[in-house]
Amino acid sequence: MDFRELASTRCSIRSYDTSRTVSDDTLLQVLDAGRMAPSAKNLQPWKFHVVRSPGMLEKLHACYPGEWLRSAPCILAVSGKRSAAWVRRRDGYNSLETDLAIVMDHLVLAATAQGLGTCWVAAFDPAMLRDALRLEPEDEIFAFTPIGYAAQGAVTVPKNRKPLDEMIVFL
Ligand SMILES: Cc1cc2nc3c(=O)[nH]c(=O)nc-3n(C[C@H](O)[C@H](O)[C@H](O)COP(=O)(O)O)c2cc1C
Repeated sequence: MDFRELASTRCSIRSYDTSRTVSDDTLLQVLDAGRMAPSAKNLQPWKFHVVRSPGMLEKLHACYPGEWLRSAPCILAVSGKRSAAWVRRRDGYNSLETDLAIVMDHLVLAATAQGLGTCWVAAFDPAMLRDALRLEPEDEIFAFTPIGYAAQGAVTVPKNRKPLDEMIVFL
């Protein structure tokens, strides 16, 4: 699959095959692709949380209102510490959100390349998620994704994107 096809194939999956788990080998390949993500000053200010035990999955489900999440056999969350990220001296901009978004996108696209489904999730209860993952006070988390094989017949919404010419300014 070339990159154009990979980017077009990736879509939000909100229904997973509950009879199929993700092998350690496949999961490690996905996580290793995340490890390759760029970050400001190469500081890699992230930690990957792999949630697979029934007890921990239950805790994460409680943080998010979408019932569909319950079908996912695994959830990947990325956290990071603001003090571990790069800061631009001139205006104090901190790259944590940018770095964590890039690494999450690497994980999601690597999962797609492995035939796995994912869905960015940000509409969770942040305080509950902090408790569930036992984050340290300084850890921040902006998104997690379920990861698993799409259920047969999982609804995939056709890509609805603005036309390219609305997004480009050639200067
Ligand atoms: C930062 C971010 C947060 C998102 N949060 C949620 C969420 O909480 N729940 C959900 O069902 N989808 C969520 N999505 C998925 C988007 O709705 C989805 O990516 C968008 O509608 C485009 O559809 P596609 O992913 O199928 O291409 C999120 C996506 C992003 C990038």
